[in-house]
Amino acid sequence: MMIKTQIVRPSITFDELEPKIRDIIKSGIYTNGNAVSTFTKQILKITQSKFCFPTTSATTALWTCLKILKITSGDEVLISDFSYPATANVVEDLGAKPVFVDVNLETFNMLPEDLLNKISSKTKAVIFVDALGNPSGLHDIKKICKKHNIVLIEDAACAIGSSERNKMCGSISDLTCFSFHPRKIICAGEGGAITTNNKNFANQLELKLTHGLKKDKSGNIDFIDYGYNFRMSEIQAAMASIQLKKLDKIIQERLNILNIYKKNLLPLGFKNQKISNFAKFNVQSATFIVTKKISAKKIIKILREKNIDCSIGTYALSSIDYYKKKYKNPLKNSKFLMDNSITLPCYENLKVKKIVNEINNIYSSL
Ligand SMILES: Cc1ncc(COP(=O)(O)O)c(C=O)c1O
Repeated sequence: MMIKTQIVRPSITFDELEPKIRDIIKSGIYTNGNAVSTFTKQILKITQSKFCFPTTSATTALWTCLKILKITSGDEVLISDFSYPATANVVEDLGAKPVFVDVNLETFNMLPEDLLNKISSKTKAVIFVDALGNPSGLHDIKKICKKHNIVLIEDAACAIGSSERNKMCGSISDLTCFSFHPRKIICAGEGGAITTNNKNFANQLELKLTHGLKKDKSGNIDFIDYGYNFRMSEIQAAMASIQLKKLDKIIQERLNILNIYKKNLLPLGFKNQKISNFAKFNVQSATFIVTKKISAKKIIKILREKNIDCSIGTYALSSIDYYKKKYKNPLKNSKFLMDNSITLPCYENLKVKKIVNEINNIYSSL
């Protein structure tokens, strides 16, 4: 059987994971134990933030942030249009209206001028997406939100380890949500986290993520709110923790691969995602725009036939079936990016030359 080249593979071995799982099973503690505590401390250190809450996914993280802001029907939430549907779905689910904001064709991130056009008296929050891990332009959006007194939520599902203007993603926005899904550079199986520097938000998140439970100083508990269980488990936390220890190395290896792609593919007419001079990119994705000679979609099809997995960059939310039918306002730039982008495999020990050769072969045959 031919082995498939995946888009991403977690940087973890059975030998690294086995003793951690053994410890959990021996302790009999599967939730809220040492592994979750270690993971939480690691995220706090990496993101330089004050409060961190591990969650079951970025989707539940985003949903909980909107919930503590009491976002409901009649409210509008302004959203970067180039993202995974989860960013809009959480808004839609609460009965509020996702208002899509177009993105910059080079960085793939929210356009400040389009955001300014769409702020209204109904706007209750902005969700800025670090597209494919790129935080470029985040501080510009933060400035606008501050001026208009709007809460800034960062969908940093892809951006653990990224930073802008020397501040880590996780300590810039009012609330930041990360993902540790297997497609991300750190994998917990499934998982997420919320970080914030705001004590009031932290208190509310703690309640909402744990059934509304409050413990007093004597250890007595009561349920002072209604809430949910969206907490990460011990085994998920242990898995992510092992990789977080190697975060810098993982990013460096991904950067080396991205540079090989750039060196070989830019001469063919590929264009890479622009990272501003003020940003540090965690290389969540090796994504390129292809518009010359052959379409990105055709290259994706050919590579997949050769067992090399690849995909589009991500989605133009205003152009996917559900939102296009409901809101009837597809945006131009994000649609262009969805139609013309390709994400290539990127992970340690990847045989990147083989992929470059396959792409060269496609171009030679045109
Ligand atoms: C930008 C963005 N937001 C949210 C999500 C949802 O993350 P999760 O699968 O952890 O819920 C994803 C997942 O791909 C994403 O890329």
